[in-house]
Amino acid sequence: MSTAAVTWWNESLDHVGLQSMEKLLPPDAGWNDVLTSGRDDLRPALETMGMTTGQDRTVLDIGCGVGRLSQNLVNHFGRVVGIDIAEKLIERARAQNTNPAITFECCDGERLNPQACREFDTVFSYEVLYYIDANTLRQYFRDIASLLKNNGEFVFQMNFNALTWKTRVSYLFRDLLFACGIKTWRGWPTTPGFRRSGFSRDWITRELNNVGLQVERVIDDDPAQSWILARKTPAAT
Ligand SMILES: C[S@@+](CC[C@H](N)C(=O)[O-])C[C@H]1O[C@@H](n2cnc3c(N)ncnc32)[C@H](O)[C@@H]1O
Repeated sequence: MSTAAVTWWNESLDHVGLQSMEKLLPPDAGWNDVLTSGRDDLRPALETMGMTTGQDRTVLDIGCGVGRLSQNLVNHFGRVVGIDIAEKLIERARAQNTNPAITFECCDGERLNPQACREFDTVFSYEVLYYIDANTLRQYFRDIASLLKNNGEFVFQMNFNALTWKTRVSYLFRDLLFACGIKTWRGWPTTPGFRRSGFSRDWITRELNNVGLQVERVIDDDPAQSWILARKTPAAT
């Protein structure tokens, strides 16, 4: 995990406020708006992907940020563990949280090694995994496979849009703007820590298979808002 990424996410609340969690939030969004947007973003996982829920289930929320989705996941799971690289976001998540069924902790961005719980029924992630480089994501998949119980589900959102030459040029341009002190362009941060990786559906499927996770369901009508449900098969890892 690059230091630039950790720095960016730690500073994101100061630079762009809660909009760093969800671009569609209004600039003056309050906590209730945040929770409502989280509820809307969770809906495809529940309704279209058919993610298994239940009060007897524990879920790991990777890249939980300020807990926008964790606070909604707790309405469907008995226990939620939120994990994130950004200490400042975790502090904010803890400050907003009054529910003892949710705990938040920091991770180093290299391995997933939650301390609050070592076995999960579900691993969940929204708007996180495509900000991670390929080697780290492979390691995360290995860790997820060992943290999941047999038959456990890994449900996550991905952006499958390819990194076109236009995107790459715009990243160079953003680097330049950032060096000149311009922090945002076209509504997005210019900071070098805020860059997405271009993963294809085939690459993700292959890497999940390699760690013993079988893809059961995919929605990719809108490549930027694709969802995957993969299951740990009993023989795996
Ligand atoms: C766009 S925000 C989404 C936050 C939250 N999932 C939501 O939807 O409100 C991306 C989050 O991913 C976190 N993140 C980035 N790289 C990460 C990594 N390698 N491991 C864990 N979290 C990471 C960032 O700190 C940030 O909180």
